[in-house]
Amino acid sequence: MLAGIGGLLFGYDTGVIGGALPLIATDFDWDTPFRKGVITSSLLLGAAVGAFLAGRLSDRLGRKRLIILTAAVFVVGIVGAALSPSAPVLVFFRVIIGLGVGSASVTVPLYIGELAPPSARGALVSLNQLAITLGILSSQLIAYFLTTTGQWRLMIAIAVIPSLVLGLGMLRQPESPAWLVEQEREDEAREILGRVRDRPEDVDAEVAEVQTVAREREGVSALFGPGVRPALIIGIGLAIIQQITGINTVIYYAPTLLESAGLGEHAAIGGTVVVGLINVLLTIVAINLLDRVGRRSLLLGGTIGMIVGLLVLAMSFIGQGDSIDHLHAGVAIAALCVYVGSFAIGLGPGFWLLISEIYPLRVRGSAMSLAGVTNWLVNFLVAISYLSILAAVGRPATFFGLAAITFLSFLFMSARVPETKGRSLSEIEMDLRGGEAGFTTSHGQVTSR
Ligand code: BGC
Repeated sequence: MLAGIGGLLFGYDTGVIGGALPLIATDFDWDTPFRKGVITSSLLLGAAVGAFLAGRLSDRLGRKRLIILTAAVFVVGIVGAALSPSAPVLVFFRVIIGLGVGSASVTVPLYIGELAPPSARGALVSLNQLAITLGILSSQLIAYFLTTTGQWRLMIAIAVIPSLVLGLGMLRQPESPAWLVEQEREDEAREILGRVRDRPEDVDAEVAEVQTVAREREGVSALFGPGVRPALIIGIGLAIIQQITGINTVIYYAPTLLESAGLGEHAAIGGTVVVGLINVLLTIVAINLLDRVGRRSLLLGGTIGMIVGLLVLAMSFIGQGDSIDHLHAGVAIAALCVYVGSFAIGLGPGFWLLISEIYPLRVRGSAMSLAGVTNWLVNFLVAISYLSILAAVGRPATFFGLAAITFLSFLFMSARVPETKGRSLSEIEMDLRGGEAGFTTSHGQVTSR
């Protein structure tokens, strides 16, 4: 939970701009769509760089030290942004906050995944996603209550408290045992595993397994070697899918959409809070199911739900002009909730969880970072192009298009994504490496594709 504060900051810092942006734009006289876009997306680009750097650094410094460093970056970025005398300075510090967000997005699931026992890994790693959704929800609530006061600096500054808790709290936490074994610091690894595993034999087995997979040290070029390729394609594929299916068009722009669906300004922000709440609640449902039902079923089931939500959303806008009638507005909002709820069941936690599980230990940090960078870059592209696409082709075509993309994504995932429930990371690695395209299915048999 402590490491999950990294996720809370990820969610809060990406979400807070929704409420803060109009105030900032007025205060600094930066009220053009382009300038607002720069303020918003600076964080996303910073996050892509942060996720990139986190790969090498987590292998070099260790997971724990990198999380502490990340917390320090958050503090610097947040304090700087809250005190910015001008818009360019604010943009600069939002890039710094972005470095922290990107680094946390990779390092936290990596760290939790390596510390968690296999039987609860899905739930524990996904605490990070729960924290992300809670971060987004708190930013929406704070926007709801603080907007009328104009206090955007306070909205940004509040995040310094969790950053300090994360940094100071992590000082007392253990390092990842897998990383320690990789560094040939086996005794420390055993001592830590002794505290977080139920049975002593589990400790021996895990150390031995990690040693087996750690033996082949090959450096970053191994990332593109044949043994890693299947996992690499899955990870990058999921990174693109998680963003290109449009979640952040809703998370970042829900008030805009709800207003265009006929709600007043305040009601639109209220509606956004409802969407945020559904995101949190269904993430909790997912956490309860991931280690029982398995990753694949939730991912695929959730994606079907997203397709249904998008199709209904698109249809509710057909033939409606600017002033949409009550019935259609109601249907649109319900469809939005189905869509976000289904994301929260599947792709939300599923992506970050799977990329913490499918990569071989020797390239895990770098490979996760590559998936993270891809995720942030696609997030950036979607965020800057969405409003223009909406203006160019209209609402029905935009959402029918997203439904089609989501359907193609479903086909990719159903063909490629392995079931990782209840298996040790080393076991997953040996399988993925064994037959280049051989995966263990949910029934525990190895199949070749
Ligand atoms: C995604 C974010 C998204 C959030 C919504 C995360 O898993 O990476 O881009 O804003 O979920 O809950």
